[in-house]
Amino acid sequence: MKPVAVVFDLFGTLLDIASLHDVVASVASDPGAFVATWREKQIAYSFASAIMGTHEDFDTITALALRFAAAKFGVELDTLRRKRLVDAWFDMHAFDDVLPALTALRARGIRCAVLTNGTPATAASATANAGIDTLLDVTLSVESAGVFKPDRRVYALVTEHYAVPAERLMFVTSNGWDATGAAAFGMNVAWCNRAGAPAETCGPPPRWTIRDLHALAAIAG
Ligand code: LAC
Repeated sequence: MKPVAVVFDLFGTLLDIASLHDVVASVASDPGAFVATWREKQIAYSFASAIMGTHEDFDTITALALRFAAAKFGVELDTLRRKRLVDAWFDMHAFDDVLPALTALRARGIRCAVLTNGTPATAASATANAGIDTLLDVTLSVESAGVFKPDRRVYALVTEHYAVPAERLMFVTSNGWDATGAAAFGMNVAWCNRAGAPAETCGPPPRWTIRDLHALAAIAG
């Protein structure tokens, strides 16, 4: 059955985190390794914050993870540089397959939405700067639930917004753990395995595994 909406994760799924490499190259000699640590810690801190019940927003978590990455790579960051790096999360480019995928879904009468850990302000700037905001029906932020993915209360923001059961929605993410979380909640999940990672072994598997978003409109119906 055609989903009521296809809901996307934002960072890493629609927006390319490698966009950070240019700005990181101004402070670190191996931007790829630096960004990988930064992202890994950002996600680890979001999990820790959710488990500890000590929610801080994703901008704060991103800044804390940056401090860790800077310490690991021996990079000294003054306030201005730290701000420039955190602000770079507002200014990422969309992967090449995003515009065609969103356009094809909309042409089939399927609404497109975002569900992100990002704050409402960051998500709004990031989608606008990437030129995809006008193709989105709504951008939902975990801030409305006060906890990060993969907490069920976050995925419930989508079922509440569309007032439909989880099985009427499709969720698309490049993060294996996010795919597991949305599948456990009952959504039809397409894991966009951009990195060619091994499949997750804990929790329910995604319904579809795709390498990029080109195949999405066909599986969405
Ligand atoms: C997001 C993070 C997980 O956009 O990338 O929600």
